[in-house]
Amino acid sequence: MALVNTIEMFKKAYEGGYAVGAFNVNNMEIVQGITEAAAELNSPIILQASKGARNYANPTYLRKMVEAAVIECPNIPIALHLDHGPDFETCVSCIDNGFTSVMIDASSLPFEENIETTRRVVEYAHKYGVTVEAELGALAGVEDDVVVSAENSCYTRPEEVEEFVNSTGCDSLAIAIGTSHGAFKFKPGTNPQLRFDILDEVSKRLPNFPIVLHGASSVPQEYVRIINEKGGNLADAIGIPEDMLRQAARSAVCKINIDSDLRLAFTAGVRSVMADTPSKFDPREYLKPARANIKDVVTHKIKDVLGSEGKA
Ligand code: G3H
Ligand code: 13P
Ligand code: ZN
Repeated sequence: MALVNTIEMFKKAYEGGYAVGAFNVNNMEIVQGITEAAAELNSPIILQASKGARNYANPTYLRKMVEAAVIECPNIPIALHLDHGPDFETCVSCIDNGFTSVMIDASSLPFEENIETTRRVVEYAHKYGVTVEAELGALAGVEDDVVVSAENSCYTRPEEVEEFVNSTGCDSLAIAIGTSHGAFKFKPGTNPQLRFDILDEVSKRLPNFPIVLHGASSVPQEYVRIINEKGGNLADAIGIPEDMLRQAARSAVCKINIDSDLRLAFTAGVRSVMADTPSKFDPREYLKPARANIKDVVTHKIKDVLGSEGKA
């Protein structure tokens, strides 16, 4: 199967009451760990790359690694998606380079400018069969080195979503309901809550329309513990409770974004080998367990959080 856009994926996810996992890719081991898990579980999957990921890996390498995964995993639908496209030009570059889906993140702009920027991307993308995710509202956390404090974050306003979607023609909408980017979301001992009332109101206003959740990592405490035991220094923090993500996946939420949990899993794998066997210097020896951890995380998310097992 060639790379697909997200239309059919999201239609099936909406109707089936599950969500498709969108996992960030930066290197070969991450691509392999994610897609091996998805193929074994017969699950659709979205591989997403940020502008930073494209700069790191080089756009050609990144696309070719994803194309290799498509060849290796012929039986599952895979979309290649631009995560947090910062402007029209970056979206165009991805569309022209084989991405099947792009996000234009103009959520920090005033409402009318967000509409105008998103509409322009949609107009270009749809000519090539590429789907477009847009965002309304602002998540707290760190994204491409931009820090949004909890005070400056803001929930999506349900009364704006119909005008936004109708005026832009976007194919899915990321909303802010209390998730946040990064590995330091909430202090331990606090009680993170998602605003399901906002999600319900948005989905009532946009029937059958796919909603996206960013900042959905749960910050697995086991990986944080390993990292800190093996020479790392991460502050204590907790992420989004997985039962809340499961609840969201059963609703209009068709795409759930996870990056930080992969970073933690990967780093725990590398640090363990480095700390336990300091004489090792063959990169394969520490990248192999890192890749295995990525596969474990994605397997767990597909089976126990997203509900997308067997939905390919
Ligand atoms: O939400 C942002 C993703 O975690 C990507 O992060 O821009 O550092 O690649 P990045
Ligand atoms: P996390 O930092 O919670 O993994 O969120 C990732 C994300 O939203 C990518 O767009
Ligand atoms: Zn995000």
